[in-house]
Amino acid sequence: MKILVIGSGGREHALVWKLAQSPHVTQMWCAPGNAGIAQERTEKTEKPVECVNIGAEDLPKLLAFAQEKKADFTIVGPDNPLALGIVDLFQKSGLKIWGVNQKAAQFESSKVFSQKFMEKYGIPTAAAGTFSEAAAAKKFCATLGGKCVVKADGLALGKGVLICTNQTEAEKAVDEIMVSKAFGAAGAIVVIQEYLEGVEVSLHALCDGTTAKIFPTSQDHKRALDGDLGLNTGGMGTYSPTPFLNDAQLAETAKKVLEPFMRGCAAEGIDYRGLLYPGVMLTKNGPKILEFNARFGDPETQVYLTRLENDLVEILEASTSGTLANHELKWNPAASVCVVMASGGYPGNYPKGKPILGLAEADALPHTKVFHAGTALKDSQIVTNGGRVLGVTALGKDLKAAQAAAYAAVEKIQFEGAQFRRDIADKALR
Ligand code: AMP
Ligand code: GLY
Repeated sequence: MKILVIGSGGREHALVWKLAQSPHVTQMWCAPGNAGIAQERTEKTEKPVECVNIGAEDLPKLLAFAQEKKADFTIVGPDNPLALGIVDLFQKSGLKIWGVNQKAAQFESSKVFSQKFMEKYGIPTAAAGTFSEAAAAKKFCATLGGKCVVKADGLALGKGVLICTNQTEAEKAVDEIMVSKAFGAAGAIVVIQEYLEGVEVSLHALCDGTTAKIFPTSQDHKRALDGDLGLNTGGMGTYSPTPFLNDAQLAETAKKVLEPFMRGCAAEGIDYRGLLYPGVMLTKNGPKILEFNARFGDPETQVYLTRLENDLVEILEASTSGTLANHELKWNPAASVCVVMASGGYPGNYPKGKPILGLAEADALPHTKVFHAGTALKDSQIVTNGGRVLGVTALGKDLKAAQAAAYAAVEKIQFEGAQFRRDIADKALR
């Protein structure tokens, strides 16, 4: 089977790495990929994975490439191509592709859509209102005492969510999104949620239109600095499982979320085949959904796929063909920890092209995998090429062992300005 993966981050490296282990796979491409992806080989045929220089949002070129190469199956990593309708496009052309279709991608591409859906189908979420006028939005913030979260409706590159602690901040946030249009057209409408306190966890479920299979728990670290300080980022590290939801609580939460979700999709004519990633706040009044993502998390994927024991090709095919009920997801009981190494300055401006040393030494450590995110090859040297550069991931018999192993690998790696958190998984160990 010939497989095309779309995307270029740590999530896509983890997907490629896991797919390449499948005995079904004879050849792989990744568009556009990165320097780490280009070092992978299919396990069965030992063919190098080929990175092709087509952007993840260039739908016509991706389609032409898949047709020319007769790709048997395409796997989509990031949200943008899904929101642009890549799945619908490929399917119309008779190509098999994994990911949600454009209608289903609205759960991520529109906060208003998700909020209304959750309210209609009784999925536990924050109290919220939807507004297209700044004055009404501000009035609603006042009813929450200004303690609220103002969210631009559309995709805003992971930004567009402003957390406010008082009415002055809330009014400023509304003005920024709705009046100054800091996030462009994405901010024409806003969702304003009450501010929820609690522990935030990531859930993932693989869906096939009727069946949803929940993954174990994981937790991301979104702030740039230790102790959850500093700016919000795409994610600075993850671990799985988290002790904040035990198996029974996970099963109960999954039931409260996935059952109404799948029922609602059926009622609305949404054929949800792909990954559902709810962001969940564990509040003292129970779990509440903050948002839905319609794709694998990054860096959640790195910890999940190092624990997954199934053949990834088989379960993604089942997700596409509606046969997930025939599969049981199997997970290594070991814990996994991923520490993101980022460029100095991230999530603000950062330099590129810094040589990265020690990658082979880190990768050679037992139960360790260095996933690349923003890396490139320059004159046969791997260099930094993005904000998040690497996701250093390790398995251990428990979280403490996995954490020690991940940081031992981080110690082997150097590049100028490297920035990483030293407390990934600490919360779970306290
Ligand atoms: P979102 O993109 O909607 O997940 O928001 C980004 C981040 O903002 C989340 O990961 C949370 O850390 C935080 N957040 C979003 N909504 C809320 C809320 N209602 N209460 C508290 N924190 C929130
Ligand atoms: N881990 C955050 C995200 O993938 O959105």
